Amino acid sequence: MILPFNRNWLFRKGDIVSSVTDTGFTKGGSWYRNGAAEELDDTNWEEVVLPHDYVITGEFCRSSEKFDSRADIAEMDTLDSLYTSRGSLPSGVAWYRKHFTLPSEAVGKRIYLRFEGIYRDSAVYLNQYLCHKQLNGYMGFTVDVTDLVRRDGDNVLAVRTDATETEGWWYQGGGIYRSVRLILEEPVHITENGLYVRSAVNAEEKTSDLAFSLTVVNHTEKSSEQTVDFCVSELDGTTLAEVHTTVTVPPMEKGIATATLSLSDIRLWDCENPYLYLVTASLSNGSTVMTKIGFRTIVFDRDHGFFLNGVQTKLRGVCVHQGHAGIGIAEFDGIHDYKLKKLRSMGCNAYRTSHSPVSPELLDACDRLGILVMEENRLLSTGDEDRENFRRMILRDRNHPSIVLWSIGNEEPRQFSEFAAPIASTLRRMAHALDPDRPITEAMLLWSKEQKRVLENVEITAPMSKNVDVVGLNYGLVAWDKLHAEFPDKPFICTEIRSIGGTRGAVCDDRDRRHLTPFAKELLPTVESGEKAWKMTAERDYVSGMFAWTGFDYYGEPTPFNFPAVSSQFGIFDLCGFPKNGYFYYRANWRRDVSTFCLCPHWNFVPGAEKRTVYLFSDDRCDEAELFVNGVSQGKRKIEKYLHAEWKDVTFQPGEIAAIGYRNGEPVARDAVKTTGAPVALVAETEHLSGDEDGFLYAIVKLRAVDCEGQTVPTADNRVAFHPESGVIVLGSGNGDPSCLEPAVSMARPL
Ligand code: GAL
Repeated sequence: MILPFNRNWLFRKGDIVSSVTDTGFTKGGSWYRNGAAEELDDTNWEEVVLPHDYVITGEFCRSSEKFDSRADIAEMDTLDSLYTSRGSLPSGVAWYRKHFTLPSEAVGKRIYLRFEGIYRDSAVYLNQYLCHKQLNGYMGFTVDVTDLVRRDGDNVLAVRTDATETEGWWYQGGGIYRSVRLILEEPVHITENGLYVRSAVNAEEKTSDLAFSLTVVNHTEKSSEQTVDFCVSELDGTTLAEVHTTVTVPPMEKGIATATLSLSDIRLWDCENPYLYLVTASLSNGSTVMTKIGFRTIVFDRDHGFFLNGVQTKLRGVCVHQGHAGIGIAEFDGIHDYKLKKLRSMGCNAYRTSHSPVSPELLDACDRLGILVMEENRLLSTGDEDRENFRRMILRDRNHPSIVLWSIGNEEPRQFSEFAAPIASTLRRMAHALDPDRPITEAMLLWSKEQKRVLENVEITAPMSKNVDVVGLNYGLVAWDKLHAEFPDKPFICTEIRSIGGTRGAVCDDRDRRHLTPFAKELLPTVESGEKAWKMTAERDYVSGMFAWTGFDYYGEPTPFNFPAVSSQFGIFDLCGFPKNGYFYYRANWRRDVSTFCLCPHWNFVPGAEKRTVYLFSDDRCDEAELFVNGVSQGKRKIEKYLHAEWKDVTFQPGEIAAIGYRNGEPVARDAVKTTGAPVALVAETEHLSGDEDGFLYAIVKLRAVDCEGQTVPTADNRVAFHPESGVIVLGSGNGDPSCLEPAVSMARPL
């Protein structure tokens, strides 16, 4: 039984270290000199609901230190401190506590607490026992507290987190930012991630053989024999097939039950129809687990790229860091669906979890929405904790049909050193042993920091390239063909490439405000534009696909600016999930089922932008387009495949700009943008609504200012204040402006 455990937590920022000098900590259960003490007076602590990110609740402020530039990340050179690249928010230590009693169902059960993610360096204490310590902030963990919990009476759970050190160079937040669950199990039970389902699908015949493996643990003194039922059903519960077996588990040991069955008339899982089935495994004593599966085949082919169910499919992907406007990394219910649906709307079919494992809820959403996932390991290392985190990521996630590729690391400074081959080879062997059905890659960077250029001596990648299944390269367009030629048995994927980003709504580069237009030169340090990257991907059969950096803006890494820029502008969507102009480039090129002919940016007056560039993003219906300002032609432009068209230095005059698209001289498309009036009203629209397992309802609300005709005023920056009714909490807000220093949890902000 899995119970929600996110409510009624207490929180305190700062460390708790007692000055008492007695002999505490020398006996089991004697962690009473810090925040774990049962007697500690926590009546004044703040009440919080998880998930929670305490760093995002802080105030943006400038760093005093200078950056020690040891990193090999080219763009980081432009930031003056790691603090700035982490979002200019103070981090530090914090404590959480929760008082609870066990529910009546816990009688006779084993008790576990599952933490899906704590950032970072966390220690979990229950009733003054230290139960678990973990540095890594991205992999969840489960604690067996069966002996440490009071069966009748109050329990004090305490969690210390320390986000002072960083595991990356972007905003990473701090706190218990994913869900916590209380798990009650029989003394003999299926282990966590104990159900593994492999499918051998024949996509043409619509059949599949299934192989189940179930790990069972026996915590009793007697050997236990259990009947095991495996059942495949539709999501509505209709049973399709069942198989039964038995397993004998010796005392204090684990046993594995296996079984197979075959299914016909299956519906395949793909990006358009991500059809899912349910597999339930249960023991005769009632211990039960469920997992959703999808039937699909995946192949990375050396010459023809990626195939899903036998169909050549380019991965049209984006990289995404955790986090969202207003809430930081706190993973509230619904946030994943909200963001993934946005990505789907521009034709994106792939997601890179840069640069860390993600939550099971995010992967569930990818399964449901038909998004192919490259899940990434945080650190390229086989040190104890790193190796264990990699192993746990695969064990936890290998049933997800959405995952097609594991990445063992990103642009690691030692990616080509003497350590590369042994580490990559060990991780590959581990991955293949745990999951024989998926390949691994590493996101390599071929960049010389000293020479500020892409290296073309691709043979230096050999220690890594030879030890991964799919050669993965970040950027370095000039090296793609060479890399492909150099490793004749390896498929190839572009694991990261520039996107079309900038500041949403910017009509001119305003460096004082840290605002940039989509094709600003500062966004292209390596002259590898997002357009060129997609063109190369589309034109080369061997390229399995690409992941644009990034799908969404994220806090931190405000490159190419310093403070007061506090969030990145690499996203195709801004921090709030609102599309920028570049969105229409991807929609035009990635979606075949809708037509795109879109004129950008807006046509309102902006001081300093009396002359501006006008962009047109069109699919290949048109071969030419003409721009008109208030009916006066500004000339025609050719529409080249994979590229946008633009008119530079167009003089602003209030009214309307319109573009006409032609095919063989005939008008076939039109789009227009009008100057709006002044803002007169505010419109609030619920963009997403969802309820979570703890009984909360979450809404993502979009606010826009409109003129007297109801048109959205793109230049409105009115300050809006939130006055929630009783029972409503404003968790946070944002406006997508990379240099807006309004705190995320503020009760007022400019639009
Ligand atoms: C890449 C790196 C990303 C991000 C990006 C910024 O090289 O993998 O994490 O830093 O540069 O351009």
